[in-house]
Amino acid sequence: MSNLLSAEQSEYWSELAQTYVWKKKWDNLISGDFHKADVKWFNGAELNITENCLDRHLENRRNKKALIFEPNNPNEPSSFLTYGELHLSVCRFANLLKSKGIKKGDVVCFYMGMTPELMIGILACARIGAIHTVVFGGFSPLSLRGRLEDSKAKLIVTHDGAYRGDKLIQLKAMVDEAIEGLDSVETVLVVKRTNNEINMKGGRDYNYETVIKSAELYCPPTPVEAEHPLFILYTSGSTGKPKGLLHTTAGYMVHVGKSFKDVFQYKENDIFWCTADIGWITGHSYMTYGPLLNGATTVMFEGVPTFPTPARFWEVVEKHKVTHLYTAPTAIRSLEKFGHEIPDKFKMSSLKVLGSVGEPINEEAWHWYHKHVGKEKCPIVDTWWQTETGGILISPMAGLTKLKPAHATLPLPGIEPCLMDENGKEIKDLVASGNLCLKTPWPSLARTIYGDHERFIQTYFSTYPGYYFTGDGAKRDSDGYYRITGRVDDVINVSGHRIGTAEVEDAINEHPSVIESAVVGLPHPIKGQGLYAFVIPVDGVEDSEALEKEIRETVNKIIGPIAKPDLIQVVEGLPKTRSGKIMRRILRKIVENEIESIGDTSTLLNPEIVEKLIAGKKELN
Ligand code: PRX
Repeated sequence: MSNLLSAEQSEYWSELAQTYVWKKKWDNLISGDFHKADVKWFNGAELNITENCLDRHLENRRNKKALIFEPNNPNEPSSFLTYGELHLSVCRFANLLKSKGIKKGDVVCFYMGMTPELMIGILACARIGAIHTVVFGGFSPLSLRGRLEDSKAKLIVTHDGAYRGDKLIQLKAMVDEAIEGLDSVETVLVVKRTNNEINMKGGRDYNYETVIKSAELYCPPTPVEAEHPLFILYTSGSTGKPKGLLHTTAGYMVHVGKSFKDVFQYKENDIFWCTADIGWITGHSYMTYGPLLNGATTVMFEGVPTFPTPARFWEVVEKHKVTHLYTAPTAIRSLEKFGHEIPDKFKMSSLKVLGSVGEPINEEAWHWYHKHVGKEKCPIVDTWWQTETGGILISPMAGLTKLKPAHATLPLPGIEPCLMDENGKEIKDLVASGNLCLKTPWPSLARTIYGDHERFIQTYFSTYPGYYFTGDGAKRDSDGYYRITGRVDDVINVSGHRIGTAEVEDAINEHPSVIESAVVGLPHPIKGQGLYAFVIPVDGVEDSEALEKEIRETVNKIIGPIAKPDLIQVVEGLPKTRSGKIMRRILRKIVENEIESIGDTSTLLNPEIVEKLIAGKKELN
């Protein structure tokens, strides 16, 4: 037993783990500590997560719907797979991967739209002990290439094209561009979706529909060690390149399965709809693994909330009798904009629980969601967690925890959050405000940054030795309820997607007319936060619409559309300390219109620049 966990915590996690299927039980529950960031769980155990997601349900749920697929276009029929069918599809896909030389420990990348093959594919990897890494289709070919270089993926699964609203995204062409000259990628499997014209390279590219035909029907689950990698998922940090967070098998399974059941108070025959893309952690944990571990029916939606009309979400809820809707504040705000009359036309009487994730939910959006979607009868679970944490850590349990709008409320069983003060000490007072940390390990924490354990230690375990630091600030009230206030580092949460300022700055600086840039978060009515870029051009270049457009295009090319700055201000200088460091705090205050709290600027190298920046500030239309 680890001296980090209390006896009760150890008992809690061990008893919980007994509810899963293991090939071999663990010798010891936990080893390691937060100082070395080497915590391992269920040492000595062997299992296969797909046996827990699929095989064990076959006896009683073979004909139950596992996955309901709702296409982008409402005129196209929806479809479903039962547990029996999903099991078969996963086995066949797994055999196909094997036939293409994929073995335990190999990395397989998915760059796809949201269709059942994506979920089948990642489960197929898990079936044979291969490691999946899903790259969101909104990232550019260059971003994809960076992730492929880092993960050394041998095979990519993609679509010919993907539908998103009224757009057709040419995924295969983007893959071609990304892997040009990249030897590590041996095979590309192309799933047909849009029938747009694509190039196929002989000996490398295969039509999924053709090759799957010869795949055998059964694939035995490969037993893997508890700490065998399950997936890598890239996310942005405050500095440098995106980090590949590595999650392992047993710990992830144990917490994700249980947190799904606890938070959503899932009951047999509920229909669970998580609207996230599988390219993000939410789609991994609460569209795929969490529901399937519980034998639930999970809904996968290919499209976007506003296509073809802003009633699309409510139509899907009614059509599939959704009981649980789990979405992001940005989606709620984008629908709120069209007026409550739209959801008011729908009864949505099947709904029992609403969920929110990805960013702080403002009170107005909370009330709108509660009243017009949940008709004042559905609890809202405001779930706080991160790519790193694997599963939800702080959240109400639906119907059990007394709600407070915009509060993530209390930690789940076994989870021990705390707040730290500016001197790095844990705040013992109940009512407090500080940086959010976790005091003790939990099983689904990521184990490392793929290929860079030192960065893992530096990022999460060095600020407060002995604690996991989340990067978020939070407040705790007299009920012990947590309210997450947002990131305290240089990460910006745009529409619930994490964007590192350094990454965007590096991209902007690639533009030949740019000398230097600084990006900060901009309060945004729909996205929560947007991106505001201050840009210093080379001598002689003036601010112009053309320049702004080019800068956005540069970012689009290097990172993808999600990182394009909302506002760009061309400036002659940035506020700097005498040692040359950009004073981001001042830039943030300017962008947030908090001029009076900028404070003393006299120690700056160039105090005169502040007034100029304020005078030239851009506003959202
Ligand atoms: O700032 C917090 C915010 O999203 C960050 C994690 O982002 P990501 O790894 O992309 O995972 C998003 C989905 C879990 C956190 O550091 N965040 C997430 N959930 C909430 C939240 N902020 C406030 N309230 C939440 N419920």
